[in-house]
Amino acid sequence: MFRERLAQDAARIQEHFDLVLGALDDLDVTRAMAYATKGGKRLRGFLVMESARLHAVDPVQAIWPATGIEALHAYSLVHDDLPCMDDDDLRRGRPTLHVKWNEGAAVLAGDALQTLAFELCTRPEVGNPEIRAELALTLAKASGAEGMVLGQALDIAAETAQDPLTLDDITRLQTGKTGALIEWSACAGARLAQTDPEPLRRYAHALGLAFQIADDILDVEGDAEKAGKRLQKDVEAGKATFVSLLGLDGAKSRAADLVDQACAALEGYGSGAETLNAAARFVIARDS
Ligand code: IPE
Ligand code: IPE
Ligand code: MG
Ligand code: MG
Ligand code: MG
Repeated sequence: MFRERLAQDAARIQEHFDLVLGALDDLDVTRAMAYATKGGKRLRGFLVMESARLHAVDPVQAIWPATGIEALHAYSLVHDDLPCMDDDDLRRGRPTLHVKWNEGAAVLAGDALQTLAFELCTRPEVGNPEIRAELALTLAKASGAEGMVLGQALDIAAETAQDPLTLDDITRLQTGKTGALIEWSACAGARLAQTDPEPLRRYAHALGLAFQIADDILDVEGDAEKAGKRLQKDVEAGKATFVSLLGLDGAKSRAADLVDQACAALEGYGSGAETLNAAARFVIARDS
């Protein structure tokens, strides 16, 4: 069921990108935006759609923030891959945007994807003004200096830090870098329904950490062909990760504990949460 749902939501998000980006003038920057938004697992968009389903929110409403968060995520990847950041040439099995175009185009396409995310969350089709404002406010917090950008800044700083990072430092870094957008995505359904997102927030907090541990494990022992990106980059860059601190086995057992915690957080939803529970198990079993 989970696999079908993920595939179905991914296809729907791609159609929505085609619609939204297709309505823009055909320019270099809009072509670059379309390129950057293609592919990927669409996990964040799926979390929006699925948490919306859990609260009986119409998918016709949820598709907007689902596409919005994937636009924001795509922007974060485009900038993450830049030479001044991780300097990567491969993403989702294709050349990174600055390799395919140039650095200026990558910066601008990233900028425009970020603002597009907020546009998509605040379009009238999403819901009443209160819902749209809440989605935009929480997305701003999740993606900025208290969220994703904070995590990315700590990640870059860690490359040249004198003292090795502790487990607490890494957890703070990853909670921002990866966790904040995943948390926002999982809470979106409750926000669309104007109900308490707390159980979903607890689910997503554990899921986000498990997700990043899996990313760190993939970096060490994954298959680059399947992952569609260069691996063994963390060790090369001297990055402290969950794997460097806990070891491979320690990281795997921590990830498994986190998946249990994620599922436990949704107990109150009963069988309605089965697909989200399967998503949590998928996150640590994935190969891309
Ligand atoms: C990769 O995210 C970057 C991290 C935050 C670790 P994903 O693994 O979700 O990337 P796509 O969207 O599937 O390509
Ligand atoms: C990227 O983290 C996180 C964001 C873009 C916010 P990583 O640098 O670990 O992601 P990969 O390994 O390049 O996908
Ligand atoms: Mg990075
Ligand atoms: Mg990177
Ligand atoms: Mg990584």
